[in-house]
Formats: sequence, structure tokens, C-alpha cells
Amino acid sequence: MEAIGLFYGSTHGMTEKAAMKIKKALGGTIVDVYDLKNASIEDIQKYNNLIFGTSAWGIGEMQDDWELFVDNLSVVDFSDRKVALYGLGDQMEYPESFVDGLGTLYCRLPDKSRVVGSWPVEGYNYYFSLAEKDGAFVGLVLDDHNQADLSEKRIAEWVKQLKKEFK
Ligand SMILES: Cc1cc2nc3c(=O)[nH]c(=O)nc-3n(C[C@H](O)[C@H](O)[C@H](O)COP(=O)(O)O)c2cc1C
Repeated sequence: MEAIGLFYGSTHGMTEKAAMKIKKALGGTIVDVYDLKNASIEDIQKYNNLIFGTSAWGIGEMQDDWELFVDNLSVVDFSDRKVALYGLGDQMEYPESFVDGLGTLYCRLPDKSRVVGSWPVEGYNYYFSLAEKDGAFVGLVLDDHNQADLSEKRIAEWVKQLKKEFK
């Protein structure tokens, strides 16, 4: 598998913590992790395998650093790249907008045909999520407020899937 660039936006460190766990599960050295607030579009263009992570804020909002950065993606040629997404949220406090940041990030991607790593909706309790599409989440969903005990297992499963889907 080629190198993976993982780019996350995180306000209180929860999406960052998940990034480190995903890196470890993928085998460490193959993954370069970037905090989006210190990353450039050139950093993203170094990788054919990409992972983007965001938390959810406000009404349908991505984490702030993604809100500022996402339009830069329009210059990236995604035709030869694979992209996997993950999102952090809180299904108890925000059941009507659960992990909406993940859904918004998906919507704002210039080329959705390269997205891999969709994730089942079973096992979560919520009313509505922008991240749900055709009966599945558009990427891995983690809720470290209410289901922290499940995150490790979810990451391990998702990573198994990515190892098949990435280049
Ligand atoms: C003001 C505020 C708004 C939030 N809005 C949502 C939301 O709409 N949907 C959701 O699932 N989580 C929402 N959350 C929960 C965060 O996404 C969650 O705490 C996440 O783990 C934060 O990750 P971070 O520290 O990496 O930014 C919100 C949290 C706060 C404080």
C-alpha cells in the first residue's frame, strides 16, 4: 500500500486522538498525520491515499479548520486518488445533527467518486445525520462522548476495509 496522508481538524483534541489511533491501526510509519491548521494544499497533493477527519459543530458545520480550508481542495486532481473520511460527534447531545460535519465534508469534496470507507449506521442512536447516504455513513463515525469503549474496535474494522480499498 502507498503512503497515506491523514489530515484532521480538531477543536478539543478528540478528532486528533482518533487520528493517532487510526495511524497506529494502519501500521504507523505508512501514515503521515497533519493537523489541518498547519497543512497546505501541497501537503495533500503528496498522497494518493488520503484520510480526512472532522468533528461536527453548529448546524451542519465542519470543524473550523475545515471550514477555512475546504475550498482549496478544488485545485486537487482526485482522479488518481482515494479518499476516506471519518467524523466525530455526540449522538446524545446532537441526535438531530449527528456527525453533520462529516456529511458536509463529503458534500464539499470536489470529486466524490473516489471516496472509500463507508460505514454501517447500525449501533448508533440518532434521528438525523447529514453523513448518512443510501443507508450508510459516508465514512467512519466515532462518538467518544457516549461510545468511547467501541472506538478501538470500530477503527480496527474500518482500517481492515481501507487496506483493501486504498491503492
Ligand atoms: C457547540 C457545539 C456544537 C456541536 N455540534 C454538534 C453537532 O451538531 N453534531 C454532533 O454530532 N456533535 C456536535 N458537537 C460535538 C463535537 O463534534 C464533539 O465533541 C467532538 O468529539 C469534538 O471533537 P474535536 O475536539 O476533535 O473538535 C458539538 C459540540 C459543541 C461544543
